[in-house]
Amino acid sequence: MTGMTLNRHRLVVFPLVAALAATSAAALVQSPHIAPPDAPSAGRLVPPGEPGTPLSASGSVVSPDGAPVAGASIYAFQTDAEGYYGVKPESDNRRPRLKVLLRSDARGAWSFETIRPGSYPGSRVPAHIHFEVSAEGFAPRLFEIVFEGDPFVTAEMRRNPAFSVRPVGAGGKVTERIVLTR
Ligand SMILES: [Fe+2]
Repeated sequence: MTGMTLNRHRLVVFPLVAALAATSAAALVQSPHIAPPDAPSAGRLVPPGEPGTPLSASGSVVSPDGAPVAGASIYAFQTDAEGYYGVKPESDNRRPRLKVLLRSDARGAWSFETIRPGSYPGSRVPAHIHFEVSAEGFAPRLFEIVFEGDPFVTAEMRRNPAFSVRPVGAGGKVTERIVLTR
C-alpha cells in the first residue's frame, strides 16, 4: 500500500534508480531492497525499546514442491505502532524507518523480532508488514502479512495472493511459509 505522504524528491529519483537497475547488475546488488549475500537469517526489524506490542515473525522460504530455498533475500518493512513509516508525521513507505534485510538459511528458515504495526492513521487499512522476497531462479514475490482479527481485513484480501492473513499466536508469534515460483 502506498504511503500517505508523497515525497517529491523520491518521485524524481526513483525512475532513475529503476533505469539503472535494469541496465546494471551492480545496481541490483546495491538495491536497498536486496539483502547482502552474507545477511543473517535472524534479525530485528525494530530497534530495542521501540514502543509497541512485541511480535516475533518467523517462517521459511520454499519452492512449489516444498523444498527449502536457501539464501533467499527477504526485505521486510512496516509502520510503527501508530501507523507511520517515518518519524511522525512523516510516512514515506519508500523510506521506512523500520525494516530488516535477511537471507534464508540452509533450511530456508528466517525470523525477526518486531512490534505490531499500526494502521495508517485515520484509515481503514489493516495493519501490515510488507515483504519483498527474491531468490536466484525464482520470480520475485511481494506481499503483505495482515493479522487475523484486524477489523479492516476484508474478504477480498483473503482471496488476494498479495495478502496473507495470519493469526498471532501465544506470545505474539506469527509465522509465514513463503512459496516462490519459477
Ligand atoms: Fe504499507
